[in-house]
Amino acid sequence: MANVAITKVGDVLYPRLQVPDLDTMESFLLDFGLVRAHRTDDKLYMRCTGSAAYVHVISVGEPRFLGFALEVSSQEDLERLASSEGFTPIEARAEPDGGWRTTTRDLDGNLVEAVFGQEIAAPLKSAAPRKLNMGDRFDRIGELQRIEPGPSRVKRFGHLALNVADPAASLDWYNTRFGLIASDRINLASGMPAAIFSRCDRGADPADHHTILFASNMGAGGVSGLNHLSWEVCDLDDVHAGSEHLAAKNRSHEWGIGRHLLGSQIFDYWRDPWGHIHEHWTDGDQLDASVPAGLHPIGISQISQWGPGMPRTFGRTISPQA
Ligand SMILES: [Fe+2]
Repeated sequence: MANVAITKVGDVLYPRLQVPDLDTMESFLLDFGLVRAHRTDDKLYMRCTGSAAYVHVISVGEPRFLGFALEVSSQEDLERLASSEGFTPIEARAEPDGGWRTTTRDLDGNLVEAVFGQEIAAPLKSAAPRKLNMGDRFDRIGELQRIEPGPSRVKRFGHLALNVADPAASLDWYNTRFGLIASDRINLASGMPAAIFSRCDRGADPADHHTILFASNMGAGGVSGLNHLSWEVCDLDDVHAGSEHLAAKNRSHEWGIGRHLLGSQIFDYWRDPWGHIHEHWTDGDQLDASVPAGLHPIGISQISQWGPGMPRTFGRTISPQA
C-alpha cells in the first residue's frame, strides 16, 4: 500500500519528562550515561555522544511523561503539518538549540512536537565503537581491549514505547501524519493487535526496526501513557559495563541483559527514581521501507532470544520504592 503521509519523519529526537527534583534526576541520568547539555532553574537538558544538542528534556513538576519530538526533514514538511487539522501554527522553539516546531496531541493525549531547523552539536570523541576480534575478522591487532569502568557511552535517543488504547488506530494516526510504517504486529487470538512496532519510512535507506512501539494499554491496567524510553549505546561493552555501573550506584534494575526477538536489540532496562523505564540497547535491526510487516501471535513479546524473562512490572511507570 502506498504511503501517502503528510510527512515522513526521519527520526525521533527526545522525550519530555516531568519530575519533582532535577538534581536527583540528573544524578540518575549521569549514571545512565547522559551528560548535561543545559540547565535552568526549572529545566534540564541532557545530551549523549551523538550530534543531537540534547536527547532528554526534563521539567520540574509532578512526575509524568509530557510527550516527545519527531524530526521533520524540511520547512515545507513543517508547514504542511502546521496547516493540517489538529496542529498548532509554526512557532520558534523556546529551547537552547533554536529551530521551529508545530505541535499536536495524539489519540491518547501525548504531546507530539514536529521539529525542524534546530542546531546540531559536535559529536563527542568517545563515540567510536570498540574494535573487536571475532570469527574471521580481526579488527584489533596489536591493541589491548581495556574497558574503563563507568557509565555507558550513549549514542542517541532511539525509540519510545507508548501504552495506547488502540495500537492499530495509533499506527494509522502516526502513519497519516508522520509516515510511520509497521515492522511487526503482535495479535491477540481475536486478530486485535496487542502491540505494533513501527519505523520511519526512509525509502531505500535503512531505519531502526522501531521508532515508536504502540502497546495495548491493557497491559498497564487500561491506562495510556509511557511504556519506556530507549537510548542506543555505542557497543556491547557499553550495555554490560554500563549495567554494572548502574548496579554499583544502587539504581533500580527492571529487565535484562538479553536480546529481543522483534528488533533483535541487546537490551538492558533501568528505572529512574520515579519509575520511568530507561533502556540501553545496541545491535538493532535496520530495515528499509520495502520490508513487509511481520505478524506474530500473542505472547511473543515476552520471548527474548536469550536473557531473563520479562518481569510483570515491565511497561508501567511505578516508583522503585513502591
Ligand atoms: Fe525498547
